[in-house]
Amino acid sequence: MRIAISQVKSSSKAEIAKKHQHLVFGRTFSDRMFQCEWNPDLGWHQPRIVAHQPLAIAPSANVLHYAQQVFEGLKAHRRVDGSIALFRADKHAERLDRSADRLCMPAVGPELFLEAVHTLVDLDRDWVPPVGAGSLYIRPTIIATEAALGVRVASNYLFFVIAGPVGPYFPKGFKPVKIFVEQQYVRAVPGSIGFAKSAGNYAASLLPGRNAYANGCDQVLFLDARERRYLEELGGMNIFAVIDDTLVTPALSGSILPGITRDSILQIAASMGLHTEERLVSLDEIVKGIEQGDVTEIFAAGTAAVVTPIGSLMVNGTTVEVNHGRVGQLTQTFYDHLTGIHQGTLSDDFLWMTTVASKAKTGKVPAKAKRTNVRARKRPAKAQVKAPAKKIRPKQATRR
Ligand SMILES: Cc1ncc(COP(=O)(O)O)c(C=O)c1O
Repeated sequence: MRIAISQVKSSSKAEIAKKHQHLVFGRTFSDRMFQCEWNPDLGWHQPRIVAHQPLAIAPSANVLHYAQQVFEGLKAHRRVDGSIALFRADKHAERLDRSADRLCMPAVGPELFLEAVHTLVDLDRDWVPPVGAGSLYIRPTIIATEAALGVRVASNYLFFVIAGPVGPYFPKGFKPVKIFVEQQYVRAVPGSIGFAKSAGNYAASLLPGRNAYANGCDQVLFLDARERRYLEELGGMNIFAVIDDTLVTPALSGSILPGITRDSILQIAASMGLHTEERLVSLDEIVKGIEQGDVTEIFAAGTAAVVTPIGSLMVNGTTVEVNHGRVGQLTQTFYDHLTGIHQGTLSDDFLWMTTVASKAKTGKVPAKAKRTNVRARKRPAKAQVKAPAKKIRPKQATRR
């Protein structure tokens, strides 16, 4: 599909550099956004890049009343060779379509998803922070826009993509966080939409999150809905524990989001020869394991924070310290390995990075251009979309 690119005033490099110095997660956005509509007759149509701007949707739009919405969160990283690359964008495209299917929404398909993301990041490439200073967080979203009240599947949708530079997800950076173990409220129930990345799941997590903050914790850990016995996940991250030298994470039960970072860590761990298990993990096993010294590390993983060490769990008002509140060795190893792959200081052996080719025109009307300020951009060749990042000398991640 040809993406029309509107003329948009780009921020100057100096303005962007100033913003890069004070990055709070999710507060700063790049100059442009992608938009594309769907209806039953035309399917996805009119893909375009326009200025980042408010949306005009009817107050009766389905998304505003019944939360027919799905989204993704992925990142573009600045690499040490100056290039910009996306981390596992194909997997985010697949997950968006799986989420959309559960919410009765039309699939975007990997081709349109990748083209939208590559074109937007290419045009707004100056917004990707320097190596080590952060990354460009990308938020593809589909919303139901049909203007009609009544609980039913909508017949009109908008797919949009926005992006913005981000620093650390947790204001404290890569430091152990305090986790509140939620035993009253649940995030998602079996058979519902927990495995989908959809707004309703996050709405359900707000009150428990507020309770966690009120108790001096940084994040909330949800337990299973049936028994309140087994670990599920955090509000926006999956959870791992190192138990007797085995890397253990809750199995994907249907109510847990299948994290792409989670999958990456499991693959890295296996490549290191570490034993991994995806299974039921009870809170009891964790608390007893910490007391007995079998549970040596707990950490969370997700796109926003990559890897976050967990320093303590608050269970029924009692704080249980993990690894004496220090960052565990494997936690540090996974963080270093993933950020090394992102930045291009470690070999991308899994071919997870895709370089964003520098080819889009900025939309600036050249002197001799026709009067129209919208022009089509050639579709990037498939090879450019899929090309793996150039490999560099491998530096082995070691288990310390
Ligand atoms: C509820 C939830 N769990 C887990 C994750 C981690 O998923 P990923 O690693 O794909 O970002 C996220 C973030 O997307 C999330 O929102």
